[in-house]
Amino acid sequence: MTDRDTDLHTRHRAVMPNWQALYYDQPLEIVSGEGRRLTGGDGRVYLDFFAGILSNSLGYGVPEINAAIERQLAAGVVHTSTAYLGRAQVEYAERIAELSGIPDAKVFFVNSGTEANEAALLLTTHARRSNQVLALRNSYHGRAFATVAITGNRGWGTTSLSPVHVSFVHGGYRYRSPFRDLSDADYIDACVADLRDVIQTTTAGDVACMIVEPVQGVGGFATPPDGLYGAMKEVLDEYGILFVTDEVQTGWGRTGEHFWGYQAHDVVPDVLTFAKGAAGGLAIGGVIARAELMDGLGANSLSTFGGNPLTMAGAIATLDYMLAHDLQAHAAKLGATLLSGLRTLADGATVIGDVRGKGLMIGIELVTPGTTEPSPRAAAMVLEECRRGGLLVGKGGLHGNVIRIGPPLTLTEAEAEEGLGILSTALGKVHETLV
Ligand SMILES: Cc1ncc(COP(=O)(O)O)c(C=O)c1O
Repeated sequence: MTDRDTDLHTRHRAVMPNWQALYYDQPLEIVSGEGRRLTGGDGRVYLDFFAGILSNSLGYGVPEINAAIERQLAAGVVHTSTAYLGRAQVEYAERIAELSGIPDAKVFFVNSGTEANEAALLLTTHARRSNQVLALRNSYHGRAFATVAITGNRGWGTTSLSPVHVSFVHGGYRYRSPFRDLSDADYIDACVADLRDVIQTTTAGDVACMIVEPVQGVGGFATPPDGLYGAMKEVLDEYGILFVTDEVQTGWGRTGEHFWGYQAHDVVPDVLTFAKGAAGGLAIGGVIARAELMDGLGANSLSTFGGNPLTMAGAIATLDYMLAHDLQAHAAKLGATLLSGLRTLADGATVIGDVRGKGLMIGIELVTPGTTEPSPRAAAMVLEECRRGGLLVGKGGLHGNVIRIGPPLTLTEAEAEEGLGILSTALGKVHETLV
């Protein structure tokens, strides 16, 4: 680590909260970026397979995004507030309402995934006059009071106090589920039976909503069988329980096969939330819901910076770019290359317990070789080895033992192969050390 890095790290530790953890034994400062490559404060150039936690959806220095932002800067206004009409805000809302697949949809803009999910909880609990919520085990939905409560991961459970009454159901995380050895169809049946049981035994029946991540992000890209949420929705419908899909990580074609993660489940959501990659790295969040639900609040509400002109310029340019370059199909293609490469590696390395995911959302669950014991140590070692090899990857999972791969959707084939090579070396070294 250079003196410059040491100094910054010391200053960081002195002034930032302890619970806001940094990656790496010697934390990295990002100084600049181009394409899918980042230059660190250590002077090294890294291939980026984590994209600012899946938020830099198009990579770095994208001329179309820069031009859109610069045009708005040149207009002299980066903020107006929601007290005035916003042309870009209305245009973007019209387009994503249509894309959402939710009939008669309206859009409310905020600035993060947490706020989007808080808004979804507000809408659904208000509509149902109930504070009861269903969420999935191993979920992550945000850091504020209600979103922490619906997060089913002890590692992120910063408080047990809660404005909502939450019941957690099975389904998202199959690798460590009691139903793991069942066929897809039987797994779905078991989860549906569990849902029914949880509603009957832990709620008063008039539950407001169930919220799901189609692929669990922080939970280690845990990927349930297709069709699970459609089957669960049939039970929800018996009780009038609303269905919320948290697309903060799975949206915008990242899963490859669909534009939204929920579309693998033969279900139409009542509410959809998004954030992270929507605006090419600018802070954004939003909730899309049927008009009747959205308009149901009986008092004023607003988000001062929600839908601000600078973010909207970036969001429209990002959406245009994604659609014009069919990044969804691209994610499907490169995701398949990465998945099959990693599955081949897993055949020869017993430190790899599971390789899973969809499109450019791939998780590698690491275990004590030859067992299913989670190995956070192996994950920490792989993270460091990848960095040594020039590749940035993410980490997650309930036990901190899952390597997460979520590169910009503009990743090239050559970069996919390069990253796979670095991962292969890193996983091989860690496997050799631990067996
Ligand atoms: C699925 C999901 N929902 C919500 C959030 C919260 O988003 P934010 O950190 O922007 O508040 C995250 C963040 O990782 C997420 O992965």
